Amino acid sequence: MVTSQGLGFVATVRPDGTPSLSPKGTTEIWDDDHLVFLDLHSPGTVANLAHNPAVEINVVDPVRRKGYRFRGLGEVHTEGELYERIVERFRQRRGTRPDRVRSAVLVRVLETSRLISPAYEGGASEAEIAAKWRARLTAEEA
Ligand SMILES: Cc1cc2nc3c(=O)[nH]c(=O)nc-3n(C[C@H](O)[C@H](O)[C@H](O)COP(=O)(O)O)c2cc1C
Repeated sequence: MVTSQGLGFVATVRPDGTPSLSPKGTTEIWDDDHLVFLDLHSPGTVANLAHNPAVEINVVDPVRRKGYRFRGLGEVHTEGELYERIVERFRQRRGTRPDRVRSAVLVRVLETSRLISPAYEGGASEAEIAAKWRARLTAEEA
């Protein structure tokens, strides 16, 4: 799901304790224990992680109305073997130009939980919910 959605909403904590939330289209699974995203233009997120590594990421399928939330610790990499491997993977899989990458953020996932919309509480199936939202989102595009 993380791979197919290709969009995570990343929450960090500002030094004054207030929340900060921004989308990262580069959110991907790195390995069994880590997610990764690229800092292409995320100075706030990176600065926040330097103060406090706490991070929470939501990845939600807006059609099926389901998703995951990941709680973890973020580590900012700007050089080294791991950084090079991350940048290389994005270059190979997505054609991301290495010179666009300011840093790579590796998130050690401490807790994963499912997100499910209350829309399912009435007993609707996933197919019914998806049909409704697909129609609605398509209508908005038209
Ligand atoms: C759909 C979408 C995907 C984005 N993906 C990324 C991304 O993968 N990496 C990134 O650095 N910025 C990405 N951005 C831009 C940041 O979200 C934006 O620059 C934001 O203001 C950064 O906030 P921050 O500095 O508090 O992290 C994306 C924006 C949108 C709308």
